Amino acid sequence: MKQSASLYRAFFGFSDDPFSLSPDPAFLYHSRQHDEALSNLLYGVQGRKGFIVLTGEVGTGKTTLLECLRDYLYEQAVEFAFIFNSRITSGEFLELLAYDFDLRCERTSKTEVLMALSQMLLSQAEKGSTAVLIVDEAHNLEWEVLEEIRLLGNLENRRGKLLQIILAGQPELDRKLDSPNLRNLKQRIVLRTNLIPFSESDTAAYITSRLEKAGMPLQTVFPPELILEIHRRTQGIPRVINAVCDNLLLTAFADATKMADAEMLDAVCDDMRLEWPGRHARGARSRYSEDPLAARTTSFD
Ligand SMILES: Nc1ncnc2c1ncn2[C@@H]1O[C@H](COP(=O)(O)OP(=O)(O)O)[C@@H](O)[C@H]1O
Ligand SMILES: [Mg+2]
Repeated sequence: MKQSASLYRAFFGFSDDPFSLSPDPAFLYHSRQHDEALSNLLYGVQGRKGFIVLTGEVGTGKTTLLECLRDYLYEQAVEFAFIFNSRITSGEFLELLAYDFDLRCERTSKTEVLMALSQMLLSQAEKGSTAVLIVDEAHNLEWEVLEEIRLLGNLENRRGKLLQIILAGQPELDRKLDSPNLRNLKQRIVLRTNLIPFSESDTAAYITSRLEKAGMPLQTVFPPELILEIHRRTQGIPRVINAVCDNLLLTAFADATKMADAEMLDAVCDDMRLEWPGRHARGARSRYSEDPLAARTTSFD
């Protein structure tokens, strides 16, 4: 989806794009569940816990939290590898791992990579530090890659695991980990966190918080009733909220007004082919029930 903020930025006086779709930690809204999930990630890493799993539907904020963790690891000078392309073979996985950890070895040789990795992990442990492997979109991982990851999770010394492993992905990941051939891996998972969509009050606070961070401390663009309707239609999914609000700001800008309204929301949802429960209920606006594309669902992946 095209981000249009640059067009309306000056009009509303924003210093930054309020509803960008990128997972930017600077825009983190500290909902209770996001804070809890982040604490779990940090606790798992600091406590050398081994495996941590973060799940959630598309667009609920997993990658954003991983980016927050990445900032923390960077500040603390903890070695980490961040693998976000999960449709890979086990050979490619080890190669990416070696590349991200900057291991000095023949990266296509499994033996060399594993030797260099264990050397690096031991030297980190000697320094009182650790190393972290983060895999995003982990629900796409092939069994053989998961098995490789499980073996890496076995490396430990007397003070705990040498490599902290964070697997983040859509809820299928949980189901995958439930399968009998991954029992060994499942038993090693110490912490699990699941992100769910925002509640009504979180959606309102989320929208306000993003506008505030973009340079609008007391927002008057989205009236409270409109925010309730945005919540209902986006079902509290942050990524969809962003897309809707960005389009609403663009529409308001085009109409040369600084306040969005219900009509604009209808037009935006129409353009986006947005679906939500009860949209086609009896008594709903006729233009929706006649919409030939009504059966289409929208994906914001
Ligand atoms: N707690 C939050 N605070 C700020 N922005 C958030 C939060 N959760 C999600 N978002 C925003 O929603 C969008 C989707 O988040 P993302 O982390 O990419 O979701 P996921 O990885 O679960 O699909 C991004 O624009 C992100 O900035
Ligand atoms: Mg993501």
